[in-house]
Amino acid sequence: MSDAPQLCVIPGDGIGQEVIPVAVQVLQTALPGLQVTIAQAGWQTFQQTGTALPAATLETARRCGAVLFGAVASPAHAVPGYHSPIVALRRELDVFANLRPTRAWPGLGGCLTIDLLVVRENTEGEYSGRERREGDQAISERVISRQGSERVARVAYRLAAEAGRRVTIVHKANVLRISDGLWREACLSVAHEYPQVPTDEGLVDSVAYHLARQPDRYQLLLCPNLYGDILSDLAAAFAGGLGMAPSISLGSRYAIAEPVHGSAPDIAGKGIANPLGAILSAALLARYVWGRPEAAERIEAAVAHVLAAGLRTPDLAAPGQAVVGTEQLGRAVLEMI
Ligand code: NAI
Ligand code: MG
Repeated sequence: MSDAPQLCVIPGDGIGQEVIPVAVQVLQTALPGLQVTIAQAGWQTFQQTGTALPAATLETARRCGAVLFGAVASPAHAVPGYHSPIVALRRELDVFANLRPTRAWPGLGGCLTIDLLVVRENTEGEYSGRERREGDQAISERVISRQGSERVARVAYRLAAEAGRRVTIVHKANVLRISDGLWREACLSVAHEYPQVPTDEGLVDSVAYHLARQPDRYQLLLCPNLYGDILSDLAAAFAGGLGMAPSISLGSRYAIAEPVHGSAPDIAGKGIANPLGAILSAALLARYVWGRPEAAERIEAAVAHVLAAGLRTPDLAAPGQAVVGTEQLGRAVLEMI
């Protein structure tokens, strides 16, 4: 039995099929010995097999413990029997803490000093799935639990303690006194377990305003589900956009790394998708799952280097600037490693 890290790779649909193989090559170069198993999920898989998330894929994900996921396409209209496999996979693996780091990259504009980690609760809040119509009224139940809040807060405080970050607890407890009140109380109780980590708090609207004015103001934003979804997209805009944005979702046993972008049907099949979001997501597995921060740093340094050298896929290029394709950019990162 080897103790080499195991990875379940799910390219999915559209540009997932293009960027994920590049990211896997980079990861295998930075972490020799990594054991990779490819698995299927997504819209194409549904059309071929009648299920978007085959049982064998779930089994592979559980066996490996770590997943690198590309993107899945959703049909424009509801299709009987089709449910988003990534939503199901996140639920099955109970990955409750979604991490979205944002940092500055050479030559991409944006804020040069931003270094932000958004830690988002990934299973509750407005996304608990408790919504209903009663005639002309629509009612959505926002579920916040002490246990659900404390477990994500513990992840945030552990990471903040390791990286020397200040934590800002994001809420709207002045209005949502009961639900965000409990969120705030649970986060503050975890903060007491980490007296060495500086903590403050912010109302979500005020945090959005300050983040837009001064993107490097915050170091770690600890957010309930919906606020984290919105603030992390805002943060991504300060660091090269959607094609650059990585994420990882952690639970107590499993992890799913995935670029933030979708299947990008407008550019799929052209070989021009930016692979850096996927490559940076792969690096997060090394940092947060396998305890190999030096491998993550090697990958991130290689990404910074190819950007500094002026290599760009079309989404990153200024008008008139020369561009390269997915594989060429991936090869440049590989050579740097
Ligand atoms: P999208 O992220 O696929 O694309 C938005 C825009 O950004 C497009 O113009 C696209 O070309 C560009 N873009 C995205 N990633 C890029 C990359 N790596 N390099 C260069 N350009 C890139 O979002 P959209 O258009 O809203 O959704 C398309 C499909 O993807 C839908 O079926 C949607 O349901 C699905 N989707 C899946 C997600 C997932 O699997 N986690 C997340 C978001 C969307
Ligand atoms: Mg989103």
